[in-house]
Amino acid sequence: MTNDILTLLGQHRSVRQFDGQPLSSSEVNTLVDAAQHAATSTFAQQYSIISITDPVIKHELGNISGHHWLEKSGHYFMMVADQHRNLQIATAAHANTDILHSFDKFLAGTFDAAIATEAIVTAGESLGLGSTIMGSILNHAQSVIDLLHLPSLTFPLLGIAIGHPAENPDLKPRLPQPLMHFDNQYALPTDFNQQLSGYDARVAEYYQHRNSHLKQIDFSQHMVQELSRDPKLRSELIQVISQQGFDVSAHEV
Ligand SMILES: Cc1cc2nc3c(=O)[nH]c(=O)nc-3n(C[C@H](O)[C@H](O)[C@H](O)COP(=O)(O)O)c2cc1C
Repeated sequence: MTNDILTLLGQHRSVRQFDGQPLSSSEVNTLVDAAQHAATSTFAQQYSIISITDPVIKHELGNISGHHWLEKSGHYFMMVADQHRNLQIATAAHANTDILHSFDKFLAGTFDAAIATEAIVTAGESLGLGSTIMGSILNHAQSVIDLLHLPSLTFPLLGIAIGHPAENPDLKPRLPQPLMHFDNQYALPTDFNQQLSGYDARVAEYYQHRNSHLKQIDFSQHMVQELSRDPKLRSELIQVISQQGFDVSAHEV
């Protein structure tokens, strides 16, 4: 089964090199419009998008993420979970606003922002743009909050570096479906090890032959390598989220 949208989705790859040409305001508006039409939990539209056009702020985000290549993107979006705007509406209506501080509402904002993020990525790809979603802005979440003057009940989730591609990365192979799609209950297949070995071989082949940053590693080794990250990295996140006004503590209700 195929059509233009399925083909586009099946061709996704993150792009990290851009030709430096800024996106036009019409392109930016089109991408934001695509994000806005994404599904949103309880129709609360509980996220905001901040366009980062100031080179000083972009540079600082490069420092925070460790990814200075973002500065060459044609545009940079910061995707923010946002209950602040709905707090204004609720306060003006003299409504009880307690729920906006709940963990459930924090999660709803993260869902909304993440789904809108994918809409921007896909809409951009349909226009011939490339992008990379960037969770690395959370290396120093508080710095991002300070830099962008994010008020209480907001939280920066993801950046999106997007622009005209100056690279054409190879497709990264994904897991075989039997290892990630189950019927009715969670059930890894009995031939898990065999299927994983096959996938490891495909990933190793990809890393050995892709058109940049060649390396000798398979998927299992990649996962183990990921475990060597400092467990203290981002350990302050829960505190930062709490300081932004969201109740993330475990307590009796
Ligand atoms: C939530 C999220 C956070 C990500 N953060 C980063 C990041 O900080 N830096 C980066 O270079 N890529 C980042 N990526 C891109 C992934 O590395 C990339 O999607 C993955 O390696 C698969 O490659 P592909 O997108 O080219 O298929 C992120 C992707 C997601 C979904």
